Amino acid sequence: MKTFLLVLLGALTWPAFGSEGQPEIHSVDLDVFDHASVRRGAEHYIHYCQGCHSLKHLRYSRLAKDYQIDDDTMKREFLLGERKMHETLLSAMRPEDAEQWFGAPAPDLSLSARARGADWIYTYLKSFYLDPSRPTGVNNLLVNNVAMPNVLADFQGLQVPVIAHQGGMEYIERLALQQPGTMSPEAFDRALQDLMNFLVYVSEPSQLQRLKLGKYVLGFLLLLTVLLYFLKKEYWKDVH
Ligand code: HEC
Repeated sequence: MKTFLLVLLGALTWPAFGSEGQPEIHSVDLDVFDHASVRRGAEHYIHYCQGCHSLKHLRYSRLAKDYQIDDDTMKREFLLGERKMHETLLSAMRPEDAEQWFGAPAPDLSLSARARGADWIYTYLKSFYLDPSRPTGVNNLLVNNVAMPNVLADFQGLQVPVIAHQGGMEYIERLALQQPGTMSPEAFDRALQDLMNFLVYVSEPSQLQRLKLGKYVLGFLLLLTVLLYFLKKEYWKDVH
């Protein structure tokens, strides 16, 4: 019976660690009102992601307006090539090319932070590991046989899987840094946090206005409560 339970437990826990399963998702602290962070995130995005991915719902002009980025900075840092302010952040790569080169199209990331969640993307970008059997030389804990290359490997360094055994099965217990990158793990995390702040903003640019408006509405309701309280006191004064 005990062995049976252990085997059952093994079968149940196996996917939690295995490549087809759901490994632990790490959470990332988000703040779309941190202007400096979102701007850094946008720069990282443009340099390291836009080569393959598009953000077809975001215009450069909207980004500039929401985060008060002046025209000169936009031209210098954000509008690569011949891009114009009124355009959306499209990738120069055609989806069919991506499909041919990587075996899968690089999806538009406009809504990715809502569809997948920022925590998931954050964990995904940290979960690439060396796998010589793959054409890109890497695999990913969250997406088995991932098509995307590890574009941030220079910064993060190279990770290898630490294999553990349980009930006669092998699984990846965790990833270990085999060769450090140009960033410390803390700096790499901060860069990813900036990138996630940007992607969360992109998934709903109007949230800036909505969240700000929310504060005003709450303030108004509070004021109204106070006023009504005094009004009630006034009315009941003569009754008591
Ligand atoms: C060299 C091209 C390339 C670059 C650069 C690139 N990606 Fe990707 N990305 C892909 C491809 C191809 C896929 C599809 C992966 C798959 O289906 O296995 C993908 C998938 C994804 C996904 C979706 C995963 C899923 O299954 O939902 C996310 C999120 C993502 N990339 C984020 C990023 C971010 C953030 C950056 C910049 C740091 C980036 N990518 C840079 C090619 C690229």
